Amino acid sequence: MDTSTDVSPGLASDAGSAETPFSTVIRTASHAQHTEAENSTFMSDLLNGRLGVDAFARYTEQLWFVYRALEERSAALAGDPVAGPFVDPGLARLPELERDLAHLRGPGWRAGLAPLPATEEYAARVAECAAGWPGGYVAHHYTRYLGDLSGGQIIRDKAERTWGFARKGDGVRFYVFATVANPAAFKRGYRERLDALPLDAEEKERVVDECRRAFALNTGVFRALGEEFPLAAA
Ligand code: HEM
Repeated sequence: MDTSTDVSPGLASDAGSAETPFSTVIRTASHAQHTEAENSTFMSDLLNGRLGVDAFARYTEQLWFVYRALEERSAALAGDPVAGPFVDPGLARLPELERDLAHLRGPGWRAGLAPLPATEEYAARVAECAAGWPGGYVAHHYTRYLGDLSGGQIIRDKAERTWGFARKGDGVRFYVFATVANPAAFKRGYRERLDALPLDAEEKERVVDECRRAFALNTGVFRALGEEFPLAAA
């Protein structure tokens, strides 16, 4: 049982404290779910080199739906006071995913593309936020792009070694951010933008909740992929 929630419900931990930078609040609030996503059966099997390249391709296909939802309205959000500072065409992953999929599935990749129900749910929620709630969009943006720049690099390294992709080449271009020369500096700048968000405490709490929801949606996709790719009994 998590005793931290017993003390002051609604103001659990220091999530509501005015002094705590918002980037710290959001990171702390999603820490447990990050560990859960990281340790999901599918991710563990992937990182331990126990899955075939088909599982990696299927995962990459799911990401295509999520990033289409994240990126198809990003230009429209560029002038928004909340979401705008996060919109960065250099981060766009959809073209990279399409190159990876052409490599992984061949030229007919688009015809075979099918979202899992969990992916549909995730992409639909992202699209909903992109269309009507900039704060929620920021939560999804943070959960994906900052994660891709962090743990994503571990996944890339593992994928290159497991399935023999060229380093930073076709198959793993999704994980390569050509415009981010210094990921640590980029993450610092990103956290500063989170800290500068023009939101009141109540809206910040909603954004944090959406971030938790974003992690849960990711875990849902991993769960579905884990069911589709159970390890063959040794
Ligand atoms: C096996 C899978 C994963 C590994 C090994 C991993 C690893 C890491 C590591 C080492 C960091 C810290 C980097 C730093 O402080 O600069 C990090 C940060 C992060 N990860 Fe993951 N991660 C994984 C999966 C995920 C998933 C599935 C998501 C969500 C979709 C995610 C979202 C994030 C976010 C948002 C951060 C930034 C936290 C912050 O500094 O505010 N990660 N990850």
